[in-house]
Amino acid sequence: MAAYRYFLLLGCISFVFIGFHGLLPVPDKSPIKKYHFDVQVSNVSRLCRAKAIVTVNGRFPGPTIYAREGDRVIVNVTNHSQYNISIHWHGVKQYRNGWADGPAYITQCPVQTGNSYIYDFKVTGQRGTLWWHAHILWLRATVYGAIVIMPKQGTLFPFPQPDREEEILLGEWWNADVEEVERQGDSLGLPPNVSDAHTINGKPGTLVSTCSEKHTFAMEVESGKTYLLRIINAALNDELFFAIAGHNMTVVEIDAVYTKPFTTRALLIGPGQTTNVLVQANQAPSRYFMAARPFMDVPIAIDNKTATAILHYKGIPETVLPLLPQLPAPNDTAFALAYNEKLRSLNSPEFPAKVPLKIDRSLFYTIGLGRNPCPTCVNGTRLTASLNNISFVMPKVGLLQAHYHKIKGVFGTDFPDQPSTPFNYTGVPLTANLKTSRGTSLTKIAYNSNVELVLQDTNLLIVESHPFHLHGYNFFVVGTGVGNFDPAKDPAKYNLIDPPERNTVGIPTGGWTTIRFRADNPGVWFLHCHLELHTSWGLKTALVVEDGPESDQTVLPPPKDLPPC
Ligand code: C2O
Repeated sequence: MAAYRYFLLLGCISFVFIGFHGLLPVPDKSPIKKYHFDVQVSNVSRLCRAKAIVTVNGRFPGPTIYAREGDRVIVNVTNHSQYNISIHWHGVKQYRNGWADGPAYITQCPVQTGNSYIYDFKVTGQRGTLWWHAHILWLRATVYGAIVIMPKQGTLFPFPQPDREEEILLGEWWNADVEEVERQGDSLGLPPNVSDAHTINGKPGTLVSTCSEKHTFAMEVESGKTYLLRIINAALNDELFFAIAGHNMTVVEIDAVYTKPFTTRALLIGPGQTTNVLVQANQAPSRYFMAARPFMDVPIAIDNKTATAILHYKGIPETVLPLLPQLPAPNDTAFALAYNEKLRSLNSPEFPAKVPLKIDRSLFYTIGLGRNPCPTCVNGTRLTASLNNISFVMPKVGLLQAHYHKIKGVFGTDFPDQPSTPFNYTGVPLTANLKTSRGTSLTKIAYNSNVELVLQDTNLLIVESHPFHLHGYNFFVVGTGVGNFDPAKDPAKYNLIDPPERNTVGIPTGGWTTIRFRADNPGVWFLHCHLELHTSWGLKTALVVEDGPESDQTVLPPPKDLPPC
């Protein structure tokens, strides 16, 4: 409520800052924002070496999509690379319009070399930071960029208006070809090599690179001014801590939903998530490091490389050595849990949290890692991952087409609402697989039903935290806990007033998380772990949300240029 009052107070001085909203590099007044994405192979140099990577328009990270709430966005994607490609607009709801969602073989067949596809969608009822990325193979390692959705013309942020803003994209960098890295891991049956560096706006920073500061992103600030940082975790396989030396951050938005503001020294951000923070340049003018490093509370792999960028007060010479921030330790579970606990929807009259209260459909999905026999692999086994003990098999044609045209034999709708064999999910490690099956298995959801989904981590092979993403929706994170979900006790502790609303949520290591949403968007929507490693092992499924009874509650007809398989 306090933040809302601030919003009213600032209403009268709004025009002082409006110039700041005029930074959109496209005609701002036009309700249609058009972009061209040329997917191509470009040479970039990082960690002292040059490498050919797949980019959009030769840029890494790729171009930012700027729009205003209510705009129509048209992106013409042409594929000049040797890979099949598809682009996902992560967090854009795509109401009735899964054709523009992008995950390959889920809502479309990929755009083949030499071909184009036009993603045409409206940005309705959302404002804030989202992002786009390739949604096929591991190409999102280098094919990603920000989506900035400004509030409607003449509308202010419900927090103090910043003087300037900056996009901060956190990523991962491999010296080798990422597709090669993935193939190698797969053929050995082992996790592929971890990345060689983490990056901030595509650059690893001086701590991991012996190269000069041109491999460090720097942001110039002026004393006394306030900055809005739009932070995006575009890493493939790492949840990250992020902090700025000497400066507090005020969290004001996550996944394009306003939050109750709170101040923190460090933040946690999972792959797929976005976090907007306000930072005041209120420290002694100098140079300060921003830093990002993985959160990993089970020692699965050693991956502790710190990416750095610089907050550079205007006029300070580059010879001044920056200070490093104190990041939480990589295994600081307590920090992670406490941080997530602070996230609350703003839930103001203008931006209410419409949490479903009466549930029509209860789902309980277990998350499992496991090993399957593989005679040609190093240990005779290949790592696998499953939901309710089913490892998802990618189809050969798009599931949305199969659903829309009622093509039989592409997928089943037999995905179980609960695990078939309940067990002590987070007890002692179970080294033996509970027979993991494989299949293109989905579940059907009635239009407009209120769905509750409990995601339960298991210790089938090892516990681990998993950032889960649902396409086509935001959901409310009503509860979370460590250990086994207790249906008798835990629901009483749900936050049904102002739970965080987002599109990607971390399931704690050896714990559970409950999400709720109203199934008002018909289509086929991907649900998966946003650790690319686990997605490729099969930790995914999709929800088939049925059409509603009215003509404006059905999946739209497919566009003419939808790529063939
Ligand atoms: Cu950001 Cu299905 O992904």
